[in-house]
Amino acid sequence: METTEQAKKTTESEQKALAPNMVRLIFMPGGESVEFEAGKLPYQEHGKKGSILDVAINKGVHLEHACGGNCACTTCHVVVKKGRELLSEMSEEEADRLETAADLQLNSRLGCMAVIEKPGEVVVEIPSWNRNYVREGGGSTL
Ligand code: FES
Repeated sequence: METTEQAKKTTESEQKALAPNMVRLIFMPGGESVEFEAGKLPYQEHGKKGSILDVAINKGVHLEHACGGNCACTTCHVVVKKGRELLSEMSEEEADRLETAADLQLNSRLGCMAVIEKPGEVVVEIPSWNRNYVREGGGSTL
């Protein structure tokens, strides 16, 4: 459940104007917000270049990725709350894998497969199952 402080953090971040060609990616419920120039982050060798997972690794935000970003697990599952139109189309491979995810929702994506293709603001929520994965003994150290 979202706390008032987390919601406030997001609202403040959303209100800050975004310069042209910049991307802002916000991870909920923690409210971590990262900004970068579209297409300018170095590739971190996990998931597709420019994917939500790639951005998370670049910016030091923990997003689980048990299979190393190879569309072979669902631990990078995120629910896109805003900016769906800025992301790459979902491939058949991603859709097939997502079908096995816990708590699948209409706007679910795999963080390692969903590439941020256009500048703007994207807000994703990390489902509680994935957030708890590390606490329950799973988790990657990458
Ligand atoms: Fe395994 Fe994305 S990290 S499917």
